Amino acid sequence: MDHFLYRNGELYAEDVAIAEIAAEVGTPFYCYSAATLERHYRLFDEALEGTEHLVCYAMKAASNLAIVKLLGGLGAGMDVVSGGEYARARAAGVPGERIVFSGVGKTRAEMRTALEGGIRQFNVESEPEMEALNAVALELGVKAPIAVRVNPDVDAKTHAKIATGKSENKFGIPIARAREVYRQAAAMEGLEVVGIDVHIGSQLTDLEPFRQAYQKVAELTDALRADGHDIRRLDLGGGLGIPYTRSNEVPPLPSDYGALIRETVGHLGCEIEIEPGRLVAGNAGILVAGVIYVKSGEGRDFLILDAAMNDLIRPAMYDAHHDIVPVKEPHAGAEGARYDIVGPVCETGDTFARGRDMAAVEAGDMVAFRSAGAYGAVMASEYNSRPLIPEVLVRGDQFAVIRARPTLEEMLNRDSIPAWL
Ligand code: LLP
Repeated sequence: MDHFLYRNGELYAEDVAIAEIAAEVGTPFYCYSAATLERHYRLFDEALEGTEHLVCYAMKAASNLAIVKLLGGLGAGMDVVSGGEYARARAAGVPGERIVFSGVGKTRAEMRTALEGGIRQFNVESEPEMEALNAVALELGVKAPIAVRVNPDVDAKTHAKIATGKSENKFGIPIARAREVYRQAAAMEGLEVVGIDVHIGSQLTDLEPFRQAYQKVAELTDALRADGHDIRRLDLGGGLGIPYTRSNEVPPLPSDYGALIRETVGHLGCEIEIEPGRLVAGNAGILVAGVIYVKSGEGRDFLILDAAMNDLIRPAMYDAHHDIVPVKEPHAGAEGARYDIVGPVCETGDTFARGRDMAAVEAGDMVAFRSAGAYGAVMASEYNSRPLIPEVLVRGDQFAVIRARPTLEEMLNRDSIPAWL
């Protein structure tokens, strides 16, 4: 459920007409609903009610400071994967003890920043990383709290580019070697083992892979405890999928996911961490674009938008589907059309949808891409020298620009021409 609905014949974000925002900021832009973000966070929080837990929002999904501040203010922890995300979390007021640091390639500088600034735990993914973290912690005279990310060799049954839990993926250490790696960790003076971490992939629409992974984690918990490790926390990762279309896909709800967690690891008495990103932010954001031209091609019509693959890369990168709807509500019995929906970037990959049936629109109209709140703005680039597009946050009848569109001059000023040229 989200808060982007038609009202009085036009699309609204909560109580604000999209057209009103467009008149102020111009198209294209991202628009987020605070009520939807809040609702989705609470669904996870409530799904784990009665179990000691922390919902660590995976900031990579949408990391604007305003979004991080909103979620942090509700009590969310953060899952960060870079020094940049760590800095954002802290700048948005999230205390270090609510931040977990994930990622396969943390640098020593990033480790130092987090250890100095405060950190709940590092999810370490290899022995060399463990050694580096141990060295940095010893230098600083502190102990780094760690969970080892194990790779359970489970098929997440999702798009190959976002599956992470198979043995051929670069993530984690093979679960079969976990006892040995924990033994090594326990021997390192600069480390304190606090738990186990697992994350098997993103956009999972079936609970079965989670079940398999979490059962393996439960068995490993018993084995590690028998080896004398104090396993008190389980970080179960993110990955629960969202419906990208209104019709066929109905992924499991956070409450079903919570029940599965209880069933598989509830008896262990561990504090549970989860790292949802997409489900929190995905349906809380839309991308609004203007129609530049409707071009008739051979046997097909192209809808040429002012948004392009640099603004939303998901269709080009993962063949992802986003529902695309007119901002003006089509009246009953309105004329339908079939479009190839494309952006202005000079490559064929800049195609959002092929042969998409929708209500007919004209140049000057606006359309909205639904479910674009996660992995939308954060994956944008300035390819073709198209400035990053603005982000807007709506709450009730108020809206605010939470990232302004840079002027062309600002964009150009980031480059410099050497004096010797
Ligand atoms: N935790 C870890 C360690 C992760 O690697 C990820 C996502 C998450 C949590 C959050 O997963 P989520 O709940 O959002 O599924 N750009 C791709 C998605 C990449 C996901 C990467 N890792 C896309 O647009 O589909």
